[in-house]
Amino acid sequence: MCLARGLEVVYTRFMNTSADTIWLEINLGAIRRNVQRLHLISGKPVMAVVKANAYGHGLIEVSKAVLEGGAERLCVARFEEALALRLAGIDAPILVMGYTAPEHATEAARLNVSLTVFRQDAAQAYALAMVGEPQPLRLHVKVDTGMGRLGVFPEDAATFVNQLRITKNLLVEGLFTHFSSADDIHTATTEGQIAKFDKVIADLEASGFRPSLIHAANSAGTLKYPQAAYDAVRPGIAVYGLHPSKDVPLPADFEPALTWKTRLVSIKTLPPGSGVGYNHRYITQGYEKVGACAVGYADGLRRKLGNQALIHGIRVSQLGGMCMDQSMYALDTIPDARLGDEVVLVGRQGDAFLSAEEVGASWGTINYDVVCGLAARVPRYYFDE
Ligand SMILES: Cc1ncc(COP(=O)(O)O)c(C=O)c1O
Repeated sequence: MCLARGLEVVYTRFMNTSADTIWLEINLGAIRRNVQRLHLISGKPVMAVVKANAYGHGLIEVSKAVLEGGAERLCVARFEEALALRLAGIDAPILVMGYTAPEHATEAARLNVSLTVFRQDAAQAYALAMVGEPQPLRLHVKVDTGMGRLGVFPEDAATFVNQLRITKNLLVEGLFTHFSSADDIHTATTEGQIAKFDKVIADLEASGFRPSLIHAANSAGTLKYPQAAYDAVRPGIAVYGLHPSKDVPLPADFEPALTWKTRLVSIKTLPPGSGVGYNHRYITQGYEKVGACAVGYADGLRRKLGNQALIHGIRVSQLGGMCMDQSMYALDTIPDARLGDEVVLVGRQGDAFLSAEEVGASWGTINYDVVCGLAARVPRYYFDE
């Protein structure tokens, strides 16, 4: 069991949250098993996406767990995330999937961190930076088959790759693309992207080269498009046991790894006509029991009216506006609520379940946004079950 606060990780034998007023409980066993499931489904190596602090779950502990679960590679968005992994002593192969400035090229090569390349100017600058370096810089070429984001156009890809191949100190290790709509009920867009990507691969093969690591499938792609598994799959959200979308849900055996908890830190009965919170956006009708919890928008709860929480396994509603560090809930339906009682914001409590998907929907967003928004100041407790 360990507790991570920011960069400091404190290992404890037992999870003792009695002094905490807000925290996350993360089941590393669930994460390990989800990785194993993704490997079984795809039949391919898993490149686990641990960017954005492992979707809020905690970069270092989650990365160790996915590697224990059999993941062969870690994917991050930024070079800084790769550095944090290396500083923590994690020596597995890492791919930075976003743009990396040429100033980082030599360090990336020394640390065996692979970079993504999709710009001619960046490729030239990497080559210049790498002159005289003892080891090559490993690169994955990104192809834009229809995301409209990063990547060379499919028709330019083979020339781009072959130019890199003859550049000293650069090693084309991988080729990849990213699906825009694999989580959609309609398949035409993704099938079109796969066809374009297949053509790039065929063009390259015709020129006598096939990068050793071709990959495309995010979580939804892994579940729905087995023909796009190529040499490895690249799932993120499914690793955490969260659904890619309503239209592409996870198989039933996947396990959500995260529970978000807070506590009742104040309980009071307010007389009729009392305002609750800033600008009195809620006014009590009669005598109402109001509980304050130590969670606010600075922790990652969205500043919206009508958030829900679980107390004693019962759903309660937030009253009034949300503060930075506190929020108030209606306790009239829970007569035996006591100070210090646990309150669940995401996860299970008894028979009740408040999913990240449901919370995201209530905010007009997606589950990804809910977990990625979990603030660094919220302590993360890890257990293995
Ligand atoms: C390039 C790339 N690959 C893979 C993923 C993982 O996607 P998902 O979390 O939907 O599995 C992401 C996440 O956004 C990504 O940007």
